[in-house]
Amino acid sequence: MPRQRQSGKPPVRIEDEARFLRSWVERPLVTGAVTPSGKMLARTMASYLDPAATGPVIELGPGTGPVTEAILRRGVPENRLILVEYSADFCSLLARRFPAATILQGDAYNFPELLAERLQEPAAATVSSLPLFTKPLPMRMKLLNDAFHLMQPGAPFVQFTYSPVSPIPKSDDYSSQPSGRVWWNLPPARVWAYRRQNANGHAHAHQALPNGKHRPR
Ligand SMILES: C[S@@+](CC[C@H](N)C(=O)[O-])C[C@H]1O[C@@H](n2cnc3c(N)ncnc32)[C@H](O)[C@@H]1O
Repeated sequence: MPRQRQSGKPPVRIEDEARFLRSWVERPLVTGAVTPSGKMLARTMASYLDPAATGPVIELGPGTGPVTEAILRRGVPENRLILVEYSADFCSLLARRFPAATILQGDAYNFPELLAERLQEPAAATVSSLPLFTKPLPMRMKLLNDAFHLMQPGAPFVQFTYSPVSPIPKSDDYSSQPSGRVWWNLPPARVWAYRRQNANGHAHAHQALPNGKHRPR
């Protein structure tokens, strides 16, 4: 069941904006944005998730939680969420906001080590808001391959970027499925979903529509 917020307040508040801006001033390359993601972008990211899939959903770089909120609205139960966030301040906020989720403070580029004791079954998806372009390509590829290693076959690694190009280059090893440009976000962004190809060179089940949109799984 999608979660209902009892307070009825939107998850992104003025305090979140201020907190985010402060984090960006302190660590611009880690925070990667001056403001939390907007609702449309968060919803687009969550649309790649299959709420019926079993197993945990790993979120890397949840910040103040706008994407987390969209994942819950997509129908993923809060107790299936594992949130990996570098900022201690954001972690405290996330713990108050999502008390049933597992929150791990640390470096998401080491997330297999962070998750070692926690992951009882393969994950259903990984959703990342990490500013990937601040890292060299080998680190990005390691992150993607680590995620594939921890996920079920066909599970998506979902990533947003402000860049016009994918942060992960094309390869025969995985499929790349872009969203349309999300203009209702400052700055406009695009979401990419990567899935490991199976032994026959085909992406595991997902449906791309002829108009370039994707059918949420
Ligand atoms: C662009 S912000 C996105 C935040 C939030 N998901 C949103 O959409 O508003 C990137 C987030 O990733 C976190 N982050 C950056 N590098 C990280 C790392 N190596 N490990 C864990 N978190 C990281 C930052 O602290 C920040 O919260």
